Amino acid sequence: MSDHTDRVPLRDRLRAIPTFATELPEFAPDRAPDSPVALFVEWLEEALRSGVPEPHVVNLATADAAGRPSSRFLILKDVDESGWRFASDSTSPKGRDLAANPNAAIACYWPKQGRQIRARGPVVPEPPERSAADFLARSPEARAEALVGGQSEPLVSAEERAAAVARERERIAAAPDTVSPTWTLYTLQPESVEFWQASPDRRHIRLRYDRELSGEWRRTLLRP
Ligand SMILES: Cc1cc2nc3c(=O)[nH]c(=O)nc-3n(C[C@H](O)[C@H](O)[C@H](O)COP(=O)(O)O)c2cc1C
Repeated sequence: MSDHTDRVPLRDRLRAIPTFATELPEFAPDRAPDSPVALFVEWLEEALRSGVPEPHVVNLATADAAGRPSSRFLILKDVDESGWRFASDSTSPKGRDLAANPNAAIACYWPKQGRQIRARGPVVPEPPERSAADFLARSPEARAEALVGGQSEPLVSAEERAAAVARERERIAAAPDTVSPTWTLYTLQPESVEFWQASPDRRHIRLRYDRELSGEWRRTLLRP
């Protein structure tokens, strides 16, 4: 195997990887629901039924006050007519980005179905009681890590960190409703949502929903 990979240049091996090779689902944009949330939920249910691995992992792109972007994957907690919900620490880099610039974008790709969805809009923090409910639904390990805090800061001492996490585990055991004051449930309120359905003949179908001032969604088909 290493012989083969040694001989074939990386760029050629990348080019040889098939995309959209599987049997892909149908998408008839003229029969799509009026709301992009309804279509997202439809696609997500189909992804869950057909065993797409971790379809709830989405990419979140934010930008800082200077407009410098960064993105990372996180767990989608819920979606409804208010928008796409995710949770993180407000003191993390993404939390600081969102405080300085609430405009963000979420994207996901489900290769098994050749489907990409992206949503863009402002992100708002949910009230503390909703963030607390999300926090308390997490595992004790995840809660202890979050209580120690400092996400994305340099790890100076693994031992000290482990000791701090162990202390937080004890605190949680003694007071199970302990909540991190900075853990935040956020909602991305969509202004525009695009659904992209791959087609093996490359005539990909793209449908974008744009929210109008009236609150209605305008639908536009896009060139692939
Ligand atoms: C599959 C997966 C799920 C993740 N879920 C979350 C999550 O729900 N919330 C979170 O804050 N970080 C989550 N992370 C970690 C983030 O990707 C990221 O490393 C962390 O939040 C720090 O990001 P930041 O430095 O941009 O703030 C997840 C990572 C992966 C790979």
